[in-house]
Amino acid sequence: MSRDLKIEFKPFGGSGSGSVVVFVRDDLEPSPKAVSALGNGLSELIAKAAKAEQFKGKYLSSMSILAPSDMGIERLVVVGLGNYKDTKKLDWAKLGGAGVAAVSRGSAIVIADFPGNDAEPEEIAEMALGVRLRNYRFEHYKSKKKGEDKPEGLNKVVFAVDDVDAAKKAFKDADSVAEGTILARNLVNEPPNVLFPVEFANRAAELEKLGVDIEILDEKALRKLGMNALLGVGQGSDQESRVVVMRWNGGKSGQDPVAFIGKGVCFDTGGISIKPAEGMEGMKGDMGGAACVVGLMRALAGRKAKANVVGLIGLVENMPDGKAQRPGDIVTAMSGQSIEIINTDAEGRLVLADVLWYTQERFKPKFMINLATLTGAIMVALANHYAGMFSNDDDLAEQLTLASEKTGEKVWRMPVTAEYDKMIDSQFADVKNTGGRLGGACTAAAFLKRFVNDVPWVHLDVAGTAMDSPKNEISQTWASGWGVRLLDRLVRDNYES
Ligand code: BES
Ligand code: MN
Ligand code: ZN
Repeated sequence: MSRDLKIEFKPFGGSGSGSVVVFVRDDLEPSPKAVSALGNGLSELIAKAAKAEQFKGKYLSSMSILAPSDMGIERLVVVGLGNYKDTKKLDWAKLGGAGVAAVSRGSAIVIADFPGNDAEPEEIAEMALGVRLRNYRFEHYKSKKKGEDKPEGLNKVVFAVDDVDAAKKAFKDADSVAEGTILARNLVNEPPNVLFPVEFANRAAELEKLGVDIEILDEKALRKLGMNALLGVGQGSDQESRVVVMRWNGGKSGQDPVAFIGKGVCFDTGGISIKPAEGMEGMKGDMGGAACVVGLMRALAGRKAKANVVGLIGLVENMPDGKAQRPGDIVTAMSGQSIEIINTDAEGRLVLADVLWYTQERFKPKFMINLATLTGAIMVALANHYAGMFSNDDDLAEQLTLASEKTGEKVWRMPVTAEYDKMIDSQFADVKNTGGRLGGACTAAAFLKRFVNDVPWVHLDVAGTAMDSPKNEISQTWASGWGVRLLDRLVRDNYES
């Protein structure tokens, strides 16, 4: 679904004939390699154009100019780096995306030479990743209008670099992360009549081709395991529920895995506590957590990560129906705890309660990280800038914070303390599934925590970040694929042997 785009690497020298992307700081001086590729007039051309376009070389800003005929290229794109001191602080993926933003067709050469600094191969690979993410569109369901040619689109981007082999090698990993992010985006963008739980499970099963071990638990198996909290959510739907277990064993054999768990509500009407009509179509994205876990497994398997990783996703559809769960119902979760249903729209936590419990019982993981589009309240608190992070473990939370600073997929820690736990005590059962309007994201986290024993755990509430995303340098689509890059980075920096 992502448009065909070739990414290549070649040594410096020559410039081709399409668009050329160069980088400047706020002094507007082009780098030596850019000058040698495009000629001595480059500096003057940039200065003149910058004046006309009021381009100041600000970080991530760009200007695109038609090249003079003697330059032998079509278009010159100048991207601003601002006034950086440390290249580690630059968002290389966004720089890549910004570089090709103005190139809507044909091929482009990116001159990966930076005034005053050499870029590491990994940084160049990140730029290429940014190019791929920027170029992504979801156009599968748009029919071509009669007589209209398909727009040509960007079809090739060549990076001119110092060390071609090193850049290629680094890009192999980054490309796998791009594939994982794109897979997550596709899953979230798909309509809910196409991507119901059984079909979602089939899509996840395609990872078998990459060496991921797949198990699909059907309703009979889930009943046998006692996953009544999860099954209760799905019981009002004609679509059957599923849990998928994905295993990537790239680490030492016998070593405990790390575990990722995703909320996969393929459509959330709210159930009997039905949601208002406005914006309900967006609830096709209520499986963004599960999509991220599948995308992450894709990324890790694709780059043959040296780690043992399990990914589990709980797939259900939350519908109102004669058989649907009611407010007031009491269900017994796999853990043995009874849950009073106050609001059938607080369904994600019910799904996760059983999948979290099952994961820790069966796999004894080093840690569990779950992702869920869990609450509207997290968007009230953080808008779409940060995912809410709730944790019982400071070290794991710190590792995630560092990974988030590196990838730009930002997390903000929120409290999940005894005060919130008290708010979900039930008068009829062990726990109730909502704690009222106040602190809604925190009481949801406190609910999950009741199903987590003595294992380091993080809950990421991605309601604001997984879908309906603002457009930026590396995303022009509704579904950002949020979290794949973050969690790949977490594994890469801390859990690979
Ligand atoms: N899937 C929603 C949360 C959501 C809302 C995600 C908007 C993305 C955008 C979740 O299942 C839900 O309905 N939560 C309720 C909980 C409430 C009933 C306690 C909410 O946040 O309103
Ligand atoms: Mn809901
Ligand atoms: Zn939901």
